[in-house]
Amino acid sequence: MSQLRAVVFVNVLFLCLSSASQPNFVLFFADDLGYGDLGCYGHPTSLTPNLDKLAAGGLRFTDFYCTSPVCSPSRSSLLTGRYQTRTGIYPGVLYPDSIGGLPLNETTIAEVLKPAGYATAAVGKWHLGYGANGMYLPTNQGFDHYLGIPYSHDMGPCKNLTCFPPDVKCFGLCDVGSVTVPLMKNEKIIQQPANFLELEKAYSDFATNFILTSTQKQQPFFLYYPSHHTHYPQYAGQRAAGRTLRGSYGDALAEFDDTIGDIMATLEKAGVLNNTLVFFTSDNGLVPELMRMSRGGNAGLLKCGKGTTYDGGMREPAIAYWPGTIKPGVTHQLGSILDILPTFANLAGAKLPSVILDGIDLTELLIHQGRSPRETMMFYPTDPSEMYGLFAVRYKKYKAHFYTRGATHSGTTPDADCPIFAVLKPHDPPLLFNLEMDPSENYPLSLYGKPELQDVLEKIKQVKAEFEATMVFAQSEVSKGADRSLEPCCNPECSPKPTCCSC
Ligand SMILES: *[C@@H]1O[C@H](CO)[C@@H](O)[C@H](O)[C@H]1NC(C)=O
Ligand SMILES: *[C@@H]1O[C@H](CO)[C@@H](O)[C@H](O)[C@H]1NC(C)=O
Ligand SMILES: *[C@@H]1O[C@H](CO)[C@@H](O)[C@H](O)[C@H]1NC(C)=O
Repeated sequence: MSQLRAVVFVNVLFLCLSSASQPNFVLFFADDLGYGDLGCYGHPTSLTPNLDKLAAGGLRFTDFYCTSPVCSPSRSSLLTGRYQTRTGIYPGVLYPDSIGGLPLNETTIAEVLKPAGYATAAVGKWHLGYGANGMYLPTNQGFDHYLGIPYSHDMGPCKNLTCFPPDVKCFGLCDVGSVTVPLMKNEKIIQQPANFLELEKAYSDFATNFILTSTQKQQPFFLYYPSHHTHYPQYAGQRAAGRTLRGSYGDALAEFDDTIGDIMATLEKAGVLNNTLVFFTSDNGLVPELMRMSRGGNAGLLKCGKGTTYDGGMREPAIAYWPGTIKPGVTHQLGSILDILPTFANLAGAKLPSVILDGIDLTELLIHQGRSPRETMMFYPTDPSEMYGLFAVRYKKYKAHFYTRGATHSGTTPDADCPIFAVLKPHDPPLLFNLEMDPSENYPLSLYGKPELQDVLEKIKQVKAEFEATMVFAQSEVSKGADRSLEPCCNPECSPKPTCCSC
């Protein structure tokens, strides 16, 4: 055998060996979904049979956190394993005309897995930037294929969004001033405005096709499916509309759950169910949007919701499912969306990026029922700043609030701490809660005559100081501002904009 042939042979052998042991990954990400919204987390009228099945056959987390109580920052943390302050995805969220986006030199999960031989695809809501000529789209961030809406589906005039039956208008006007919402295939706009009512089928077909193509090629794959459900305006296509007792929020959730069912059926059909780690959680903050009242989500027994650093804003349902490998059960150990990148990287035998990672590998917890190596969780507000730093820190079962503040998006609950009228309040000493005994953050612990709690607080202050000493705030991408000419338009030379952007 020539030297070259020997090298080729060894490489082929290596590829075969590695792909046989490399699991596939399917990552489902809901939008504005709270702790109390799924059937398997106690909602009485949500219809989530497919998610409930994943929960029953997988590991369900009770203490899993996103990193921000709003969309774009959490998505950046999910895909990079880093707090949004390190990547610049703050304050608030990106818009269709934003100049900035997730910096291209950040390494996403897709960019970690690709060199390890993975096929990668994203389908659904991106919301990490569009930018000049779509420079921030998923195809420039490690995804081979993309189909979806590049931001929230209310970021356009959705006054025409009709629910089912087709003559019923959905609630609300959305953002009337910008272009109608585009549907993108890779970097091309294939429909504008996007046909919302048919979107779910398009996504499901795309995911099915990607899974079947990858398995036929015997290539391990990573499918990232961030759904626009259950963000406002909530609606569903014909298959799910009117099917639940919970109104449009319940129908939207049921539609997403249907697609999850379709994808699980495809994995089974392709014979890869027992070689695929399926992970479900909700985006950041995805907290319920309490501002929408009963049309919004539900944080269950947690305090407040979207926009706040109480647990209702940042603690999320999370399920890890991998039959034969992950033992079914419930865990009260800590986990975070930050941990998905290092966990997938380890399971795939992929190399970690050489940056400061905030995520921790959870393989021991998932596969060997070990302890979670995560002991802390940091809480930044929607507008993090070096001046205020962290608003709260969770350490083991304790959470200390250094600052609290209400938010518009949490404005409709009876709790006076949640709405925007609850102005920024510093706490010295910090408000300390035992989340195992008081998950609703109702009863701050009295430190008086409790030296052990004083010690806990000292420890939390030390953890906070050590963390903040390593935190170098990246330049804010959101504050780079906006340029109306960057809004996606399927007919770029047309006028008058934005109305002429229709194809
Ligand atoms: C990306 O580039 C920016 C600007 O040059 C730099 O400040 C930042 O540290 C880089 N990030 C990474 C992860 O390399
Ligand atoms: C909204 O509906 C009206 C009437 O059906 C139609 O003329 C208009 O083009 C629609 N607008 C969009 C953005 O789809
Ligand atoms: C996975 O499922 C296939 C088909 O059902 C079976 O042949 C195989 O042994 C299973 N592998 C593992 C690791 O359980």
